Amino acid sequence: MASHSTILVTGGAGYIGSHTVLALQRAGYSVIVLDNLVFGHRELVERVLKVKLVVGDIGDRTLLDQLFAQYEISAVLHFAAYACVGESVIDPAKYYLNNVVGSLTLIEAMRAAAIDKLVFSSTCATYGNPDTSPIPETHSQRPINPYGSSKLTVERILADFDQAYNLRSLSLRYFNAAGADPSGRLGEDHTPETHLIPLVLLTALGKRASVSVFGSDYPTPDGTCIRDYIHVSDLAQAHVLGLEYLLQGGTTTVCNLGNGNGFSVNQVIQTAREVTGQAISVVDCPRRLGDPPVLVGSSDRAKELLGWVPQYSSLRQILTHAWNWH
Ligand SMILES: NC(=O)c1ccc[n+]([C@@H]2O[C@H](COP(=O)([O-])OP(=O)(O)OC[C@H]3O[C@@H](n4cnc5c(N)ncnc54)[C@H](O)[C@@H]3O)[C@@H](O)[C@H]2O)c1
Repeated sequence: MASHSTILVTGGAGYIGSHTVLALQRAGYSVIVLDNLVFGHRELVERVLKVKLVVGDIGDRTLLDQLFAQYEISAVLHFAAYACVGESVIDPAKYYLNNVVGSLTLIEAMRAAAIDKLVFSSTCATYGNPDTSPIPETHSQRPINPYGSSKLTVERILADFDQAYNLRSLSLRYFNAAGADPSGRLGEDHTPETHLIPLVLLTALGKRASVSVFGSDYPTPDGTCIRDYIHVSDLAQAHVLGLEYLLQGGTTTVCNLGNGNGFSVNQVIQTAREVTGQAISVVDCPRRLGDPPVLVGSSDRAKELLGWVPQYSSLRQILTHAWNWH
């Protein structure tokens, strides 16, 4: 639907953003990507996706004003952020400046241009150490690291901007994005890489000597952390549905996006050994600051509100698609 709509995707040269651009294209939207390429990949946007790339920063108000004057943008999908939990503990200023000040600059420019629909990349890290599992959206939010706090601050700004200025937003709290587009055109390529699945696969490829397992004394069945892995193409599809929800007049809300199933670090490594046929060496390391033992989400709200049906919920499928891309 909606081929008349141009959608601005911030951070569209990154991992989840690029998969979402592909899903938007498949749904008939015209897309512009704004990315400062601090982590994003120019060739992905220009050669693989063949979409207009504006190289620039979400904190550059002059650029945003120009962009919104030049193009008729009906909504913004906002992925651009820093997203490393550990780094945020060491350098919180970097995170608050980019994730909070940058986002505020973006939504202020949207307000000035009367663009009133935004889908925001939030995170399960806003919950902190949860009391229940799977976590519903109504669970209290007590982040235990500056990254989670920065995302929660933006959620709060968005709630206030809804009340005061009618900015309609959908904050999507992702659990662990993983996998790659099944076509093999896109995948996960972060530098530095901090996510478990690509690290495991790079080890299987012989590009890394071993995988570090941070903590094997957690109160979980095998002692390693449990996470909810959600296929990146399922995340991308949720964004298309979320965008359509807002374009059809949906009100401001938040949704978790996860599988509702948790897998331990050891289970991920074992499944990766089966998928790749490689041994994959492991080194046991101390726990990291800011890592809750278990993070598993309930995504019932996204299913009911958006009609979202994840297509690739098995860990084996997620790992197979990621492995094919690698
Ligand atoms: N990967 C996950 O598992 C996960 C989980 C929860 C939430 N998120 C959120 O999803 C979003 C996307 O994550 P990702 O894994 O695709 O990360 P990514 O680093 O691959 O993508 C982020 C993109 O934003 C760009 N960017 C960063 N700061 C910018 C700025 N100031 N101006 C313009 N562009 C900027 C980067 O160049 C990069 O291309 C982030 O907001 C992240 O916090 C990710």
